[in-house]
Amino acid sequence: MRHYFLNPKTFIVIALTVFCVSANAEAVDPDAAKAFAKQNNCFRCHGVDKDKDGPAWTKIAAKFKADPKGEEKLLHHLSSGETAKFPDGHEEAHMILKSDDPKEIQNLVDWILSL
Ligand code: HEC
Repeated sequence: MRHYFLNPKTFIVIALTVFCVSANAEAVDPDAAKAFAKQNNCFRCHGVDKDKDGPAWTKIAAKFKADPKGEEKLLHHLSSGETAKFPDGHEEAHMILKSDDPKEIQNLVDWILSL
């Protein structure tokens, strides 16, 4: 009879868990997100934790983090030119974020949500 230190089934479950957790941790690349935001002038109107014309991204994260559709809503916000309300009361279409690589937009949204 063979003795396993862990039975093979347990081993697979553990391996998969470790794999998923590390894959998740790698999903957000904050440096790439910041560079992408900078390149698109997002910081003209947003601070990471400071309100400018637009709300601080930490505030946006707090608002959308608990929402299971948060990611979807922010992706929609950045692709649709939704009406944005400015502190002085005027409204204009929010800037639309474009990229040849949808993963860049996804990464930025996930990073904002992680703040
Ligand atoms: C010209 C100023 C301006 C620029 C540039 C800008 N934003 Fe905004 N943004 C706003 C304002 C104002 C709001 C608030 C909208 C509201 O609450 O109606 C907002 C809201 C948001 C929200 C929250 C949406 C929601 O539904 O609450 C996100 C996310 C966001 N901006 C991301 C970005 C990103 C990413 C960029 C860069 C691609 C960017 N913004 C560029 C002004 C701007």
